[in-house]
Amino acid sequence: MNEQILREITDFCRQRGLAESTFGRRAVNDGKLASRLRNGGRITTETLDRIRGFMSREASAPPARRRMLFESAPMLQPLTSLPTIAPPTTDPQRNFRFFDNRQKYLLFVNTCSEKWEVANRVSLELGNIHPRPPAVRVFDAGVGDGTVLSRVMRSMHDRFPTMPFYVVGKEISLEDIRLTLQKMADRFIEHPSTALVLTNLAYAEAPWLTVKSISAATSMVWHEVGLSGSTAHAFEQQITGLEPFLAENWKARVSAKSGNPVYERPVVLIIYRNDHKFLLDQIIPKPGGTIADYDLVIASQPYRARSSLDFKVKRVLAPLARALGPGGRMIAIHSHGNDPGMEIIHKVWPTDNPFVHNRHDLLKAVKQELGPAGRDLNFNTYSDQRALFRYDMHTLPSEISSSIGTSTLLAAWNAAIYVAQIEDDRLSDVNSDRRYIDATREVLQQHGGLWFYDESFVISRRRD
Ligand SMILES: C[S@@+](CC[C@H](N)C(=O)[O-])C[C@H]1O[C@@H](n2cnc3c(N)ncnc32)[C@H](O)[C@@H]1O
Repeated sequence: MNEQILREITDFCRQRGLAESTFGRRAVNDGKLASRLRNGGRITTETLDRIRGFMSREASAPPARRRMLFESAPMLQPLTSLPTIAPPTTDPQRNFRFFDNRQKYLLFVNTCSEKWEVANRVSLELGNIHPRPPAVRVFDAGVGDGTVLSRVMRSMHDRFPTMPFYVVGKEISLEDIRLTLQKMADRFIEHPSTALVLTNLAYAEAPWLTVKSISAATSMVWHEVGLSGSTAHAFEQQITGLEPFLAENWKARVSAKSGNPVYERPVVLIIYRNDHKFLLDQIIPKPGGTIADYDLVIASQPYRARSSLDFKVKRVLAPLARALGPGGRMIAIHSHGNDPGMEIIHKVWPTDNPFVHNRHDLLKAVKQELGPAGRDLNFNTYSDQRALFRYDMHTLPSEISSSIGTSTLLAAWNAAIYVAQIEDDRLSDVNSDRRYIDATREVLQQHGGLWFYDESFVISRRRD
């Protein structure tokens, strides 16, 4: 019976260009239906009836309604109220499940050296900036788990040990804010004159700590925390004490308009040492907005690779370039491909190409978008030798042998699909057999490990 119904399902999906997981979810609320059947799982006659009922209903539905059922974007309006049906969305920003992606991110960050290498590359830029009093000004356009920012702040202390720091990090995810804050207690010990600001505002707002809509402005949460005491332990306790505040206020939802995560309430959280408040008076921002004028802007993996050029340029890179002060530099970093990671991907999806825009495309488009406002900016593509850098999956020499452990293979597969940003629907189809594990093993054995390339570029503002 399994073979028969499985064949019917795969034919149905093929004819309609539908992922099996989507079929399963829509028909019987089980995204793994097809893979369970394939593995010999049993289903009741009632489930069988529901599957067949779903297929026959869909076969007789008008084409427009059919399409609507298979849309992956949330159906926010009743079918009857739609005068025309929009074509299925092809915008990867919508199809990508941001929050589901979290576990993949954490596994990737902890098994690969990317965030260390990114921090090294960003830190090289510290040699080219010319901070002016009263502070070194840094903006991190997507803090993530805080690995990059905390390493860059260490490097800043090494280079500018006596200058006050004004560091602003943008991050919409509550979990990432928690992970970042955990890494910060020691920074206030080594570099006491630090004003650290974390915010969930959008790219076009966060550098200035001000929101565009009046309704958002009235619900703005502006929270200042002066740390008391002078030990890392005391600071850590006060930072951990912020948990209830964060849980209450750092909330995000998915925008019905764009499909992107957006804040529910805008939040600005400012942390400094109370015993340095007097010294930092000119630096601690006040409600109502502030100047941007950054010496350094960090844009590490700030957009999805498959996003449109328009989105990357208008929504991310151009606003960040506007936030640079005189002599300031923005370093942007994204994945490049042409590496063993993509070899794994190509064994499973031979024609996949996530990395659709390179640094040349992006800089040309940013320059065009900024027009006269970009007159005092330099757009530095650099040579491949300077722009590209490699990072590796951490493995011991003995791990890559004729029999590679399952956990190593799973971590390598996770890194490959994370970097190539493979959508969940495509994954659930592949996860049902062992092809992906075999593909990963072959590539690891062939190269004796796994590595990836990132691409970087710099936009800098001339000095006055
Ligand atoms: C999590 S963040 C980046 C946060 C932080 N700037 C960092 O570098 O860790 C924003 C987006 O970057 C993606 N991302 C993070 N690291 C990536 C990598 N090495 N390759 C591809 N995408 C990546 C995530 O999936 C997400 O869509």
